[in-house]
Amino acid sequence: MALNLDAIGKNLGPVSKEYTWKDVVLYALGVGAGFSDLDYCYEKNLKVIPTFSIAAIFDFLSHYASNANINLAGILHGEQDLIFHQPIPTEGTLTTQGKITHMYDKGEKKGALIVGESDTWHANGKKLFTSIISLFSRLDGGFGGEAAPKETFAFPDRTPDFEIQEIPSLDQPLLYRLSGDVFALHVDQEFAKMAGFEKPIMHGLCTYGYSCRALMNSLTPGAPEKVRRLKCRFSRPLYPGDPIKIQIWKTSDNKAVWKTVNAKTGEDVITNGIFEFGEIPKKEIRFDGQVAVITGAGGGLGRVYALELAKRGAKVVVNDLGGARDGSGGGSATPAQKVVEEIAALGGEAVANYDNVATAEGGENIIQAAVDAFGKVDILINNAGILRDKSFVKMEPENWKAVLDVHLNGAYHVTRPAFTLMRKNGFGRIVMTTSAAGLYGNFGQTNYSAAKMGLVGLMNTLKLEGKKYNIKVNTVAPIAASRLTEDIMPPELFEKMKPEFVSPLVLFLCSEECEENGNIYNAGMGFFNRAAVVTGPGTTVGDGENPPDIETVVDKFDTIQSLENGKVYFELNEQVGDAMNAFNAPAASEQDTSSKKISSAAEIFAAMPDAFNPDAAGGVDVVFQYHISGPGGGDWSCAIKDGACAISKGTHENPTCTLKMADTDFIDMISGVLPAMQAYTSGKLKIEGDIMKSQLIEKLFKLT
Ligand code: NAI
Repeated sequence: MALNLDAIGKNLGPVSKEYTWKDVVLYALGVGAGFSDLDYCYEKNLKVIPTFSIAAIFDFLSHYASNANINLAGILHGEQDLIFHQPIPTEGTLTTQGKITHMYDKGEKKGALIVGESDTWHANGKKLFTSIISLFSRLDGGFGGEAAPKETFAFPDRTPDFEIQEIPSLDQPLLYRLSGDVFALHVDQEFAKMAGFEKPIMHGLCTYGYSCRALMNSLTPGAPEKVRRLKCRFSRPLYPGDPIKIQIWKTSDNKAVWKTVNAKTGEDVITNGIFEFGEIPKKEIRFDGQVAVITGAGGGLGRVYALELAKRGAKVVVNDLGGARDGSGGGSATPAQKVVEEIAALGGEAVANYDNVATAEGGENIIQAAVDAFGKVDILINNAGILRDKSFVKMEPENWKAVLDVHLNGAYHVTRPAFTLMRKNGFGRIVMTTSAAGLYGNFGQTNYSAAKMGLVGLMNTLKLEGKKYNIKVNTVAPIAASRLTEDIMPPELFEKMKPEFVSPLVLFLCSEECEENGNIYNAGMGFFNRAAVVTGPGTTVGDGENPPDIETVVDKFDTIQSLENGKVYFELNEQVGDAMNAFNAPAASEQDTSSKKISSAAEIFAAMPDAFNPDAAGGVDVVFQYHISGPGGGDWSCAIKDGACAISKGTHENPTCTLKMADTDFIDMISGVLPAMQAYTSGKLKIEGDIMKSQLIEKLFKLT
C-alpha cells in the first residue's frame, strides 16, 4: 500500500457538522472541566474551550488519512496547530474545507509525515479557526519524497512560570471519545494490546484539551476568546489515571511556550508547545490610494459617506448640484464646497464637483473630475436624490420625469463612464441607493418608488457584467434624518437616525473586503438586514404539452403563490432553468434513486463475485468475515486465494479479519455515501484481527 502522492493539494470537503451546547459541555467534561471551571460546563453564560474545535471537526480529519492512503496500522497524531480567528459560538454548524499540503519522507522504516491544513467557518459566516495537523505514518516511509524541514525549539533555561497539576481519571477516554474520536485504541483492551500498549491509552487530543485549560487558567483566565493559537507535538502516549504537569513559560506579553509531562515517569507527553493569546486583531477597513465619487454629497447621507471615506484614506470627489429638495433652482456650489473644506480640515483629500447627474454630459463631467484630480475611479456611490411626492392621479409627466431623471437616469449617466474605467482597472465597487418606498411601496411616491426599484434592476444586470472585472454592485435602502425626510420624521428621532448609522454598511460595500455582489441591504438606526427578491418553489400545472386552463391554475393557486422554501436567484438563467426542468426533475430524480438504491447486505454479497478484481489478488490469501447487524444483516465470509473469490453465507472458522457493521452503515459505505475511513474512525466499522489486510478490500472489489 503506497501513499497516494496525487492527494497533495486536492481540495477536501466541505464537511459540515452541527453542534449544540450539550456537545460543548460534553467536550469540557471530557478534558477534565468540572465545578471548578463551571463556565465551560453550564449552559447559563456558557463559554467554549477553544480546543473543542478540533474535536468538532474530527470527522474531517479522517479525510486526510483516507486520501493519502495512509497505512492505518501505523498512524499517529504527530503535531497539532490551531489558529483561532474568532471565538467559537456555543452552537451552530461548522463547515470545514482543507487540503493535504505536504508529504515528507523520513526514510525506509522511519515513516512519513502527512501535513494537512483546513479552515472552518461557522454558519454565521465567520471563519473561526485554521487547523494544521501532522500525521505520522510509521509504515509509509521510504517513498522517495523530500525530508521534513528541521525545526528548532528551546524552552527557557529556568523553572516554569506556571505549573499546573491534573489527574485525568481512569475512565477519562470513555468520556472524551463521546466528542467524536471513538477509535478502539482508547477503549478496547484487546485492540490496545494488539497495537503494543498494555491497556487503552488517553487520546492525545484529550491531553491537549487539558493543557489548553491549564494555559487559559494561567494566562487568559475566564477569557477563552483571547486564545489565538495553540501548537504542540505529541511525543509519548499517556495512560488514563497517570498524573500530568502542564509547565508554562511566559516568553512575552502575548506568547508562552509549554509542555505536558507525565508526572509519574517525568517523560514529556506533549512538547514544543506554543500558546499565543491576546485580543482579536481587528482588521481596519481602509481606502488608502482609492478614489471615491459620491453624488449628492453636499449634505445628508452623501456628506457622511464622503467624510468617512476620506477619514479612512480615500480621495473623494464630492458631487452636488446644490439645488432645492425637489430639484428646482439653478443650484449652488456651496454644499459640495463646504464638505470638501470639512474633509481638508480633517487632513483628507477631496475635490468638489457641481454637475447635474440628470444629464449624460453631467455624468461624464463628474467622472472626468475624478480622473483629472486623482487619475481613476475605484468607488462610486449613486446617492443624489430629490422628491416630488404626489398621489398618482396628480402625478404630472414633469414630476414623474424629474424624479426618474435624477435617481434612475442619474445613476445610469454617472455609472456608465465610471464602469468603463473600472473595467480597465480590474476593480470597482458601486453602491446604488434604493428606498423602502421602492422595495415595499409608499403612498404618494409612485415616481420615486419606480425610480428606486429601477435601480435594483440596474444593479441586477450590472453585477453580472462587472463580475469578471472584480466590480461588485450592491444597493442600500437607507433610513436617515436629512433634508429629504425632515418633515416626515419626528424631531426626537433625528438623533437616532443620524446618517452615521447607515454609513458603516455603505463603506463596507465600497471596500476591497466586500465580496458581496448584487445584494440589497436596509440600513438605519443601527439596524441592518438584507432584502431580496424571493421566488417560491412553485408547481407545474397540466402536462407541459398543452396550455393548462385557468380553472386548473386557480386550483393550484395556493401552491403557486407560496414562498415557503423559496430561493433567491442570482440571474435569469437559474429561474428559466428551473421552469424548463420543472416537468423533468421529478422523473429524473426517481430514476436516479431507483438505479442506485441498494436495499440489503445480501444484495451486496450477491454482487461481490462480479465486483471482484482478480488482477489485484495476485499472491493474496485472506478470509474476510463480515458480521452485519440489523434487520437486513447476517454473516458472510469472503475467501480469496489463487486469484479467485468465494463468498459463503455464515461464519468462517479461521478468518484473517472480521468486519462488524450495522446493515444501514454497510449499505451507505458500499454506496459511497460513507467513506470507509470515516466509518472506521467514527466507530461505525469495527475491525478485528489483521487490520492491515482489511485495507485490501477496497482494491479487490469495485462495488460502486
Ligand atoms: P439629501 O437631500 O440630504 O441629499 C441628496 C443630495 O442630492 C442633496 O444634497 C442634493 O443637492 C443632491 N442632488 C439632488 N439632485 C441632484 C442632481 N441632479 N445632481 C447632483 N446632486 C443632486 O437627502 P438624503 O436623505 O441624504 O438622500 C440621499 C439618498 O438616499 C437619496 O437618493 C434618497 O432618495 C435616498 N434615501 C434616503 C432616505 C432617508 O431616509 N433619508 C430613505 C430612502 C432613500
